[in-house]
Amino acid sequence: MKPKQSEPEIRAVVCAVRDAYEICVLTNHESLVSVRVGDETYYYADNGVRHSRCPLHKFRVPAEKLNAAGAYTVETEWMIKRLPYRSLRRPPVSRTFRFTPVPDEGPLRIYHVSDSHGLKAASVNAAGFFGETPDLLILNGDIASHTHTPKAAILPIEIAWGVTKGERPCVITRGNHDLRGKCAENLSLYYPTDRGRFYYPVYFPGLEILVLECGEDKVDECAEYGGTICCHAYRKEETAFLREYCDQKQKEPDNGDIRVVLSHIPFMHTDYDPVRGVHEFDIEQELYGEWVRLMNDVYRPRFGLFGHIHQVALIEGTGKFNEKGFTRPLILGGKPDHAHKSVVGTSLVIDREKEEMTVRFTDSAHNVLEEHAVSLHL
Ligand SMILES: [Fe+2]
Repeated sequence: MKPKQSEPEIRAVVCAVRDAYEICVLTNHESLVSVRVGDETYYYADNGVRHSRCPLHKFRVPAEKLNAAGAYTVETEWMIKRLPYRSLRRPPVSRTFRFTPVPDEGPLRIYHVSDSHGLKAASVNAAGFFGETPDLLILNGDIASHTHTPKAAILPIEIAWGVTKGERPCVITRGNHDLRGKCAENLSLYYPTDRGRFYYPVYFPGLEILVLECGEDKVDECAEYGGTICCHAYRKEETAFLREYCDQKQKEPDNGDIRVVLSHIPFMHTDYDPVRGVHEFDIEQELYGEWVRLMNDVYRPRFGLFGHIHQVALIEGTGKFNEKGFTRPLILGGKPDHAHKSVVGTSLVIDREKEEMTVRFTDSAHNVLEEHAVSLHL
């Protein structure tokens, strides 16, 4: 039952970032919020001052701590009036959530949604493919068609709540459409980030996901953006991170974890249409070429998972959508179907011991459109 507007509502989503979780809490009213895990209380604050006037409350909790506790409690105090002295608040209300981390053995069930472009119920339905909550939910960009309103900006968190009810981990990335609209300049307030950045590694037992992102899909000067975009500088900064990260990986002994690269835009795709002769998506050849080389030669992921193209496909070998020659299987994993109010997403079942994976493209009614067996051996 939907709570009345006069009652506090608490919804939570657990997003994985590096070796931590960002617990993202949505409330229906301006509130002070805290999260308790075991004997530790976490706050969302700016240099000692607790946020109450924010669209999303975010709490960074060590993964080890939440995995061990298996539960967390969110406490909210409805802010009647925030004042310089003696702010007026209602008595606290709390809600406890169970939490199940990614299992450290047995098959690992992941569901990936991208490019659902506002199809909220269809996204939640598609991610219900396993008949129960997936071990890990991935929302890989362009979940809304823009972030012109707070309602649109918060959509990935609302879908993640619909699927997981705060009880399973998620990875949420930014797509190119998410850079458009009034809320885009503050999107880090609505999304999990690694201290403000949308690119970062995520560590699970036997599985490492490297989240990369390309920002927009055309040059910064494109008239469509009206001067609001400076992604080239952002990508250069991200490239410096990637070089450093790969360098560090090269020095570490390989722990055998399955490495995956995740990005909304498949940066190995050179989007050139010889028929139309339009080059508007044909950007950053040198920079993306370096990313592909670093992936192939140093990071060596077992596979790559992408959205953006509005097609689902398993691509092995150089060719269409992989013109730059990414040497591992490449999955295009998300497609909206507005006519049927359906979303096609990707179910992945990974056997970490055998290093094998089953990939299924499935729709909101759980029909399996394609099924592939993929070897994860390097
Ligand atoms: Fe996109």
